[in-house]
Order: sequence, then structure tokens, then C-alpha cells
Amino acid sequence: MDRSRSRPHTTVILAMSADGKIADARRSPARFSSQRDRFHLEQQIAAADATLFGAGTLRAYGTTLSVTSAKLLHQRLQNHQKSQPIQILASASAKIDPQWRFFRQPVPRWLIASAAGAKSWQGRSEFEKVIVGEQGVLSREQGAEGQTEKNNCQPRIDWTFALEQLFSLGIKRLAVLGGGELVAAMLAVDLIDEMWLTVCPLLLGGTNAPSPVAGMGFPENLAPRLELLSAQVEAQEVFLHYRLHRSQ
Ligand SMILES: NC(=O)c1ccc[n+]([C@@H]2O[C@H](COP(=O)([O-])OP(=O)(O)OC[C@H]3O[C@@H](n4cnc5c(N)ncnc54)[C@H](OP(=O)(O)O)[C@@H]3O)[C@@H](O)[C@H]2O)c1
Repeated sequence: MDRSRSRPHTTVILAMSADGKIADARRSPARFSSQRDRFHLEQQIAAADATLFGAGTLRAYGTTLSVTSAKLLHQRLQNHQKSQPIQILASASAKIDPQWRFFRQPVPRWLIASAAGAKSWQGRSEFEKVIVGEQGVLSREQGAEGQTEKNNCQPRIDWTFALEQLFSLGIKRLAVLGGGELVAAMLAVDLIDEMWLTVCPLLLGGTNAPSPVAGMGFPENLAPRLELLSAQVEAQEVFLHYRLHRSQ
């Protein structure tokens, strides 16, 4: 069965240092890529019905990236899409600050949270939709499959269930903006279709600096395999486009 039919097509877009870090060890907002890369990110966002990002990413930046290019806004209009894609925040705890600038950005906002987390945001104006991405609290063993290092007693988002809900709400193309924990959780249940990685000319180092895929990691023989679709050099950066390799 083609499982991708009942969920959105997903594309991860990340910029990383030449040593594979998506932020420095202090988890500062990553602002090291070029203007060209930022436009590439905006193009990917403009091509999507919605973006998805983890609470760690929003905690780092405080805002999200909206579509501002006149050309891309026009393109969306021609494709019968609303001017801005829906910005979807993933936060199991939903412990987020309504004072963040994100909540004043003129973009549609949805939240995917645990049942407990969702409760505190239902019926409020900050999010147009609050989606419960949890089908009962997962057991310790199921949590381990989710490939994260977090305390397994914490509620987890069931990404297969959450993406099926997004699909039924009309989201066909989803741009996944990170960070590493969210990407790891989705990869662990085979929910990523494509990846764009921009390799930027700096070295961040640091054992604790985040990389594109966090969590527990995969044993080499079980690691998701990628197929390189394109590799483009522009000035000092390399734009790598991969498809997740699936055996069937
Ligand atoms: N270079 C780049 O292109 C780029 C892009 C994005 C981010 N970043 C960097 O990446 C860092 C943030 O990444 P991160 O890995 O720390 O955080 P993250 O993946 O953005 O967010 C992690 C949070 O998302 C929620 N979450 C993710 N997966 C979940 C699951 N399966 N179930 C429940 N909740 C889940 C949880 O929120 P709660 O804790 O609220 O429950 C979790 O703490 C920042 O330093 C940022 O600058 C870099």
C-alpha cells in the first residue's frame, strides 16, 4: 500500500555548516547562510500548503519565515493557493509564550500538540486550529522506537496520525523546517520524502551543537538511505537535493 497517499508530501529544508551542524552549541538561531539560501528556503515554503517546525526552532528564532517575494506571492495566487502557507508548530507540551513575535506575524497558525498540551490553547485566538496529534500516551517501548532522547513518559506526537489529519484538512505539500528533533521523529516512522541541505562555508563544531537529525540515531544497517537528485554549487554554498530511498 502506498502510505504517502493519505499524508502530505514532505520536504525537509535545512542549512548546515560544513561540519554538519544546523546551529551552534548554544542553539542560537542559525543565521549563517547567504541571501541566496534564504531565497531558496522561501521558494520551498512558497511551494508548500503548510510549513511544520518544532517548538525548539520557534524558541530559538521567535518568528517564522513568511513569503514576501512579489514573484512568489504571484505564483501562489496563480496556483490558487492562499498568499501565505499555514505555519504549523509542533509542540507536545504546548508550553509556548504567546508574547513571541510569531503570534503577531500576519500568517495563519496551527498547533499540533499532545492532548494535554492542546487543552490550554483550545478556543483562543493565537491558533486557527489546534490538532491533537496523540492517540493515547505511548508506552516506554513505543517511545524508544520514536528515536528521541526525551523522557519517554512525556506525551509524544504520533506523526503518522498527525500527518493523516493534516492531509484530511487539505495539506498536500508540507515543508518541514526543522529542527533536528522533529526531523528525527518523522524519519523514524518513514514520513520524510525529500531533503534539501545547504552546506555553508563555516565550521561550528561542538558535541552539543544540533545536526539535521537528532534523537538516538540509527544503526548503520538500518539508516535511512538517500538518493541524490541534484547538487548545485552557488558561490560558496552547495545545495544538495535528496529523495528518501524506498525499496518498494
Ligand atoms: N540551520 C537551519 O536550517 C535550522 C533550521 C531550524 C532549526 N535550526 C536550529 O535547530 C535548533 C532547534 O532544533 P531542536 O532539535 O532543538 O528542536 P525542534 O526539533 O525544533 O523542536 C523540538 C520540540 O518539538 C516538539 N517535538 C518534536 N518532535 C516531537 C515529537 N515526536 N513528539 C512531541 N513533540 C515533538 C517538542 O516540543 P515541546 O518540548 O514543546 O513538547 C520538542 O521539544 C535551534 O538551535 C535552531 O536554531 C536550524
